[in-house]
Amino acid sequence: MTDTKPRILIARKIFPEVVERLARHFDVQANDADVHWTPGELAVQLADKDGVLTTGSQRIDAALLAACPRLKIVANMAVGYNNFDVPAMTAAGVTGTNTPDVLTETTADFGFALLMATARRMAEAEHYLRAGLWKNWSYDMFAGAEVHGSTLAILGMGRIGQAIARRGALGFGMRVLYHNRSRLAPELEAECRATYVDKDTLLAEADHLMLVLPYSADSHHAIGAAELSRMKPTATLVNIARGGIVDDAALAQALKDRRIAAAGLDVFEGEPAVHPGLLQVPNVVLTPHIASATVSTRLAMANLAADNLLAFFDGRGALTPVNTPQR
Ligand code: GLV
Repeated sequence: MTDTKPRILIARKIFPEVVERLARHFDVQANDADVHWTPGELAVQLADKDGVLTTGSQRIDAALLAACPRLKIVANMAVGYNNFDVPAMTAAGVTGTNTPDVLTETTADFGFALLMATARRMAEAEHYLRAGLWKNWSYDMFAGAEVHGSTLAILGMGRIGQAIARRGALGFGMRVLYHNRSRLAPELEAECRATYVDKDTLLAEADHLMLVLPYSADSHHAIGAAELSRMKPTATLVNIARGGIVDDAALAQALKDRRIAAAGLDVFEGEPAVHPGLLQVPNVVLTPHIASATVSTRLAMANLAADNLLAFFDGRGALTPVNTPQR
């Protein structure tokens, strides 16, 4: 490391122990007040910084990079990095990093929790009980969809998709189908007990459709009115990937019309705003982007983002880069 410490911005409030770790090596500006800077304000904060720890919601694009000539690395505390304009970063010589692996199992656990809550109508049932409406047992009260032995359809088969497939096949005896840009190696398919199908077959066969693909221009509205119309009316849809992969307006209408049975959503188009139509229908479970939120996993994510900054400025190279700029 050089004599003058690199200047680092931590764009949102994170674990104090991780801030302290970084402060032992860098000239750190933390954001303990947890201010949500506008892009213009972020550019001002970053103008004299060499690196930044972001949390996934700060947009890093050409306009920001032009205002931050010293910037060399952006360490995202998230596995998804659709907040990065990767070509613009690469062109500007800026390395981006994300936090793969450390959140895989935790996020898969949450995907399954949301699937279960959705299929078994847990949120609806809880609201009913809290509202004092539970007076009697009845044979079909909150009768939902079967999970064990049903068909789990996974769109996007990266590490998290594979971890969900294992839970479904091994834990719940589900038939697992998947669709992905590229097919898994045969050994990995066998280990996940997952069968590759085309997207139309996936939609038609799904009892439960789980979305775990990254957001990009290609995956924008991968599930819209046309795709929803191909699903079974008894099917459930779970999105733990990113807002924008589902057309939320089309989904709200499909849920209202009971064209599918239910949905579980942890991510939303334009979050933290939620499409008003989703707030009006009972057959949806809504959570505020918390799939990786256990204390130990969030700490591991923050530490991996910090490790990327440390390794980069130490000359060892970033640990989990998403691009390879030539500088
Ligand atoms: C959370 O959404 C992540 O990408 O880590």
